[in-house]
Amino acid sequence: MADAAYTHRPVLLSEAVDALDVRADGIYMDLTYGRGGHAGLIASRLGPRGRLVVMDRDPEAIANAELRFGDDTRVVIERGSFVGFDVAAAALGITGKVNGVLVDLGVSSAQLDDPRRGFSFRQDGPLDMRMDPGTGQSAADWLAQAPESEISRVLWEYGEEKHARRMARAIVGERAVRPFLTTMHLQEVIARANPAWEQGKDPATRAFQAIRIHINGELEALGVFLDRIIDVLAPGGRLVVISFHSLEDRMVKRFIRKQARGDDLPPDLPVPDSARRPRLRAIGAAMQPSQEEVQANPRARSAVLRVAERLQ
Ligand SMILES: C[S@@+](CC[C@H](N)C(=O)[O-])C[C@H]1O[C@@H](n2cnc3c(N)ncnc32)[C@H](O)[C@@H]1O
Repeated sequence: MADAAYTHRPVLLSEAVDALDVRADGIYMDLTYGRGGHAGLIASRLGPRGRLVVMDRDPEAIANAELRFGDDTRVVIERGSFVGFDVAAAALGITGKVNGVLVDLGVSSAQLDDPRRGFSFRQDGPLDMRMDPGTGQSAADWLAQAPESEISRVLWEYGEEKHARRMARAIVGERAVRPFLTTMHLQEVIARANPAWEQGKDPATRAFQAIRIHINGELEALGVFLDRIIDVLAPGGRLVVISFHSLEDRMVKRFIRKQARGDDLPPDLPVPDSARRPRLRAIGAAMQPSQEEVQANPRARSAVLRVAERLQ
């Protein structure tokens, strides 16, 4: 499917880019380029001396970035997982100098809607689900050999799927007869094993989401990113995260809270708050898309935006 076939709607576009507080001569990183909705708006706010580093692990996203920004000398394009964003920053000599970092987590519509990528439970395609098809194990390979208990844990933990055990049992039973190679085969088996699901959703929605999160190591990547973000930011630099899953949002919320509190010293120790060395300050409360945005783009409905600023 050609890129032009997608209607690309960046989620919380102006809210996220406003939160970066873009200065014309600042240095920014958009670590989840996708189709460049946010990156485009950031670039439009930069002057000739500003800099934008864009990153994505998906080669199709990077191809789009090359087309759009390949000739823009202010923009650096990096292919890879954002777990390596600090290495990229060090190589560019911008560690501790970055004025804002944006991550807009999860999958893009371009990935979800292209059946060849294997994320879709609506259109048949190879059961892949890797954001970077050149790295790691496909969903088909994982489901061919994972123990039933592991499949059940993934569906339960990452999909909060109530019927995880039943689905895992059905998957393991089916694969002994016919291996899972296509998305619709998996959808059918999960749908058959699901006795009840939320209205308006597909019976396989939660299971597909869970398998995708596992295959791409999404929560692990977020953990590594958060561990490294503070050193990359300049004092006063902004961290802006858009998440779509309650587990992700919880990680981000707890991280910001912990860094805003500083070191865990015993509560009865008579030291001023500054001795706890807080490293971040939360900016505003968590933000969600407006009703109008969700109406225009139902995929935005679970988005949560959090913003923090590095202290000196
Ligand atoms: C929700 S989309 C971003 C959309 C983008 N903000 C836009 O306006 O077009 C998420 C993108 O992040 C990428 N991605 C997800 N996890 C990643 C990771 N760990 N490292 C690099 N890219 C990642 C995906 O490949 C996908 O293109």
